[in-house]
Amino acid sequence: MHLNSSTALVTGAGRGIGRAFVDELLARGATKVYATARDDSSVIRGPRVVPMALDITDTEAVDHAASIAGDVDVLINNAGLSTLAPLATGAPEDIRREMEINYFGTLAMVRAFAPILAGNGGGSILNVSSVMSWLGMEHSGSYGASKAAVWSMTNSLRIELSGQNTQVTGLHMASTDTDMMSGFDVPKNTPHAVAAAALDGLEVGDLEILADDDTRSAKANLSGDPAEVYSQAVRHRLP
Ligand SMILES: NC(=O)c1ccc[n+]([C@@H]2O[C@H](COP(=O)([O-])OP(=O)(O)OC[C@H]3O[C@@H](n4cnc5c(N)ncnc54)[C@H](OP(=O)(O)O)[C@@H]3O)[C@@H](O)[C@H]2O)c1
Repeated sequence: MHLNSSTALVTGAGRGIGRAFVDELLARGATKVYATARDDSSVIRGPRVVPMALDITDTEAVDHAASIAGDVDVLINNAGLSTLAPLATGAPEDIRREMEINYFGTLAMVRAFAPILAGNGGGSILNVSSVMSWLGMEHSGSYGASKAAVWSMTNSLRIELSGQNTQVTGLHMASTDTDMMSGFDVPKNTPHAVAAAALDGLEVGDLEILADDDTRSAKANLSGDPAEVYSQAVRHRLP
């Protein structure tokens, strides 16, 4: 997938990794980038940028975006929410909101844009997931479940959309320096490094992009014994 001369749409483009995606797409020669955000005044302006208001949980707004952006051949589903809700004790509305935005909102975008991608030769979808799709951690249980759903969705869509020649790629990363991670004092990648790694992978046809060592380690640990991966929890096991 060549991004030079592509027409892309990015969700959640007003800040964080979404804004970096817009910059990187323009730097790679995209002809047009629909930079979408709930508040479209938050997105960067430029000759090849089309700002658009879009809340991905609003089905009418998603359909409206598809009716305008019929030339898209790269869909970047970046928008996401982390509430830090624990599964057992967190507010049920936070847990539902994460699923509504991260899973159902992303799926709504795919469903609206899959026919457009088909009409434009197939194109690409990049779904932004997380290392948390593969790793349980305190205070990320609800977010992780929604991102695991995105991972699963991405894998199945890859099969469903193969007949129309659409490349479906997942992006996973650990800690990136955005508002979402502002309360955590941990080493972080820059949004531009993550966006660049993702678009490098997209251009060479990678189906899964792991943006850092922590994410590569979590993926490798999927085949590990949970008693070792979650060793801090094993004291509760029955003999
Ligand atoms: N930062 C990390 O360490 C990290 C790690 C793994 C995965 N991720 C994922 O990377 C993606 C980008 O996150 P970020 O780090 O850039 O976080 P961020 O700075 O908090 O940005 C989140 C973006 O999602 C948008 N958004 C939220 N709900 C939306 C909705 N209903 N409709 C449209 N847009 C919505 C936000 O728009 P508003 O400005 O309107 O709120 C904002 O642009 C997310 O999917 C996140 O889960 C981030």
